[in-house]
Amino acid sequence: MLKLKGSIKVGSDKGYSHRVLILSAMSVGKSKIKDLLESQDVLNTLKILKELGIKINKVGSFYEVYGNGTNGFMEPKKALDCGNSGTSARLLIGAVSTNPIKCMFVGDSSLSSRDMSRVTNYLERIGAEVQCTNNAYLPLMIYGNERLLPMTHIMKIASAQIKSALILAGLNIHGTTRIIENKITRDHTENLMKYLNIKFNVKKLRNGGKEITINGPCEIKSRNLTVPGDPSSAAFFVVAALIIPNSKIVLKNVMLNPTRTAYIKILQKMGGNIKITKTKKLSGEYVGEIHVEYSQLKGVNIAASLAPQLIDEYPILSIAATQAKGQTIMKGLSELRHKESDRINSIAINLKKIGYRLTSKNNNLTIKGTNLKLRKGITIKTYNDHRIAMSFSILNLIFENKLKIDDKTCILTSYPSFQIHLNKLLTKT
Ligand code: S3P
Repeated sequence: MLKLKGSIKVGSDKGYSHRVLILSAMSVGKSKIKDLLESQDVLNTLKILKELGIKINKVGSFYEVYGNGTNGFMEPKKALDCGNSGTSARLLIGAVSTNPIKCMFVGDSSLSSRDMSRVTNYLERIGAEVQCTNNAYLPLMIYGNERLLPMTHIMKIASAQIKSALILAGLNIHGTTRIIENKITRDHTENLMKYLNIKFNVKKLRNGGKEITINGPCEIKSRNLTVPGDPSSAAFFVVAALIIPNSKIVLKNVMLNPTRTAYIKILQKMGGNIKITKTKKLSGEYVGEIHVEYSQLKGVNIAASLAPQLIDEYPILSIAATQAKGQTIMKGLSELRHKESDRINSIAINLKKIGYRLTSKNNNLTIKGTNLKLRKGITIKTYNDHRIAMSFSILNLIFENKLKIDDKTCILTSYPSFQIHLNKLLTKT
């Protein structure tokens, strides 16, 4: 039987890498970026910024970005291809909307079925002209405008991508842009903005939400940055170590932003032996070591209010649930339907195929933990979704890799070193 032992430095954070590139491009001067995640999604953002006239060079292991300011994007000569990356599309649509240029955004078939109107509706309201396929989808054309209106946006969907798109637009809008989120979403855009000394205000609201105020246009001074490790990538190894007997691992240099690490609290509630040590600040975020030991897990109820902070971790939490005693109930998962695949379906169909008992009703998922004997000839369908592929690769360790996983190439979008890092931790007992 295999177990996980030793330590690794997990891959760099995907969301932070996109943001570092975009905000460095919108700064004035040269930024030197260390540990940028070189995954397909992030490289798509990088390529698009180059199409928008930003000079970016790789020098040794660093990237140097020569920012042109918040108003410095040039009209691209060709369509901007975001590939599979929702973050590239949504954030860059926001960033270019305030520049007087015409941009066409395209993506792969999965991205072309994801709703862009959740961003473009707000931008149209303040004066951008947008033409989307069937009113919501890529390919889309945006005609940016230097005179977009400073207004108050009330977020209808709890989404860090939408919030970040509006923030990036607000940085170049003349006057006060206000963004009100009634449910807190991931806040690494705001943390990075603080690190870059961008002037903006965050006010806590009585209902637990917050109001972000930006008085634009902002001048951002370039600053060198190091990208911390990705807590969502770490989650795969955390769960692997918890469910494989005799495992004991250390994950180093992981970003510990509370809006990204709620899964650790959930797994601890499930009985997981997880400890955090050696915390320090790195480029505006806390990072630290995550120590994990094999633990007998028990099922828990996960409240819908936590969904924005757990959004990318439900697939791997579902895998943890299969190994827990009792049932785990995950509520309020509607946003999972809008990811790289419909993740409620991708999780439910694959787990059922293996033989797990679960119900998926009204965007809630209930999974009963069971000690299963694997039938022969089961193939997991990843639906070209990296988090489904990695989650089922972890479950596969329980079955000594006897599950067939149809296509793992999608893992390259977020974590090209996933298998290398997993192999490094795996040893025979
Ligand atoms: C992301 C936010 C989340 C997450 C996605 C990355 C980001 O999307 O699922 O993988 O970088 O802002 P939503 O904020 O739309 O839920």
